[in-house]
Amino acid sequence: MTSIELRLPPDYRAASLRKDSLAGLTAVPKSLPPKWFYDAQGSALFEKITELPEYYPTRAERSILQAVAPDIAARTGAAVLAELGSGSSDKTRLLLSALREAGTLRAYVPVDVSESALIQAGDSLAAEYPGLAVHAIVADFGLDLGLAGDGTSANGDGTAGPRLVAFLGSTIGNMEPAERASFLRRVRAQLRPGDTFLLGTDLVKDPAVLVAAYDDDAGVTAAFNRNVLSVLNAELGADFDLDAFEHVALWDARNEWIEMRLRSTAAQPVRVRDLGLTVEFDDGEEMRTEISAKFRRDGVRAELAAAGLAMRDWWTDANGQFGLSLSAPA
Ligand code: SAH
Ligand code: AVI
Repeated sequence: MTSIELRLPPDYRAASLRKDSLAGLTAVPKSLPPKWFYDAQGSALFEKITELPEYYPTRAERSILQAVAPDIAARTGAAVLAELGSGSSDKTRLLLSALREAGTLRAYVPVDVSESALIQAGDSLAAEYPGLAVHAIVADFGLDLGLAGDGTSANGDGTAGPRLVAFLGSTIGNMEPAERASFLRRVRAQLRPGDTFLLGTDLVKDPAVLVAAYDDDAGVTAAFNRNVLSVLNAELGADFDLDAFEHVALWDARNEWIEMRLRSTAAQPVRVRDLGLTVEFDDGEEMRTEISAKFRRDGVRAELAAAGLAMRDWWTDANGQFGLSLSAPA
């Protein structure tokens, strides 16, 4: 049984894209928020990134889940798995299978801003897990986690049982520190006694390894980065020339994050029709499109604690590249 619920107001995507683009393109320095990477093309490019030899986080997190999913199932006894930013739900299958094996699983609630990703994932999951209630929610977790309300606040199928909220892939690293803090507080507010929170966090490591993961030889990450310009062209009638922007990925050692930028290769005006705006780019000017923060165990523990969450378990892969934590209301 699959259902898809839109938790966004009808005009939300267009209105929010206009607001973010106006703010970001008129700011000094210019920036655009990373959630706009993920139209159908961007979601497909992200999936290609996860298969690149340089992009280790997906493989590292999968290897942890392969090792500990049965443990997670035993410790959480979850009847509902809710997942924020679920994308293709690929690694999630390890959790779904372990929870099914344990005999507790009743419903899966994937939440994503990308409707196309949810439809694709929902259809195949329903076929692979007969009897599982898949209740997909289109929401912007920056605004509303999408977890409160009918059909999801209990467990997606109306019966009581513990809920495991998962946020994988280190997507939390794409938020600014203040945004992370408020996000974690909102997650905490959704958890009842017995519920748990599973968080994937990419770890600080050799900067050369990190930069390579965000600047691959095949240029897939560069295409993903430029895709935000395609989104503005398609949805706001902008006239960005994608060939006139270079992909930049750098390690910010002070903030311990990777920063992706787009560098204008010429002095150029860009018209954004739906904003009635012409934006001037200088030759060499850089616009920030994403941060991807890298974590340490103590930092993750402290951020969870500040939100009222107690870390109960911490696992890493064999190479110590990625961390997965399980926490519960403190
Ligand atoms: N969890 C998957 C996908 C990570 S890619 C994995 O680990 O591989 C990040 C996902 O978060 C994308 O599917 C994107 O559409 C979603 N996303 C990004 N910003 C979002 C937002 N503000 N609200 C909801 N989903 C968001
Ligand atoms: C989704 N998110 C955690 C990815 C990351 O690694 O920060 C997005 C990404 N950006 C470039 N490559 C992958």
